[in-house]
Amino acid sequence: MRPFIFAVALALTAPLAACETEDPASPVPPPTTQEIAAARDAWADVYSVLTHPRCMNCHPSGDAPLQTDASTVHKWGVNRDAIAGGLECSACHREQNAEAFGLAEGPPGAPNWHFPPADTPMIFQGRDPAALCAQFHDEEATGGRDLDGLLEHVNNESLVLWAWNPGGDRTTPPLTHDAFIEAFATWVQGGGACPDDVEIVPADP
Ligand code: HEC
Ligand code: HEC
Repeated sequence: MRPFIFAVALALTAPLAACETEDPASPVPPPTTQEIAAARDAWADVYSVLTHPRCMNCHPSGDAPLQTDASTVHKWGVNRDAIAGGLECSACHREQNAEAFGLAEGPPGAPNWHFPPADTPMIFQGRDPAALCAQFHDEEATGGRDLDGLLEHVNNESLVLWAWNPGGDRTTPPLTHDAFIEAFATWVQGGGACPDDVEIVPADP
């Protein structure tokens, strides 16, 4: 049931996000037509990173993290039930990749290795570009982060940075971290414009 309910919630929140950017009392000037167009283009780049296995494996549609480029379900019963029962990711995932401890093919690692909580599962897997864009406008789904908060997170969070230093023979996302941040900032600058459903009124006539 959850994905369906979530889709309905998205449909309801997308127009709200649009209204907020129209608020005349808003201290931030609305983006220009050009900035909105640039944001829509940039979202395609941002999306290509979000849905890469290094990110998506911790942002799955189910209750278990995924592994490898094939994104298979994490072995050894690692899932939200086990987490509720006291399983700690850090029992296996340390602050650095296993290679740093002389262990080939061991668990990858970065500070604060954990899984999105059950009530805000932060699902990227299976979301099309419009749906994931709308989800990023829903602060209940993002753990209270607005667009600037999301930019801050992807710029500095250790789990995000790990994706570009994943250890083993794991692949890295299609853009460099710098290019990803540039695209993300362009998207935020353009009001977080989405492929279709978020209507943003530009500053210019
Ligand atoms: C029993 C040890 C163990 C526990 C506990 C564990 N993991 Fe893992 N995890 C591993 C090992 C080993 C690998 C590497 C396997 C591989 O290369 O596919 C791995 C791989 C992963 C990957 C794949 C990385 C990638 O993109 O290829 C993710 C994501 C992950 N774990 C998340 C978690 C999360 C989140 C938790 C806690 C909820 C957790 N793991 C708990 C041992 C563990
Ligand atoms: C080891 C697991 C793990 C990996 C790998 C990971 N994340 Fe996350 N991510 C999380 C967790 C856990 C949270 C929730 C953090 C919190 O609120 O405390 C999160 C939150 C986020 C958020 C903010 C909330 C939201 O709505 O999604 C974004 C954006 C995000 N991650 C992007 C990424 C990107 C981009 C990558 C890859 C470059 C990535 N993540 C890789 C675990 C991971």
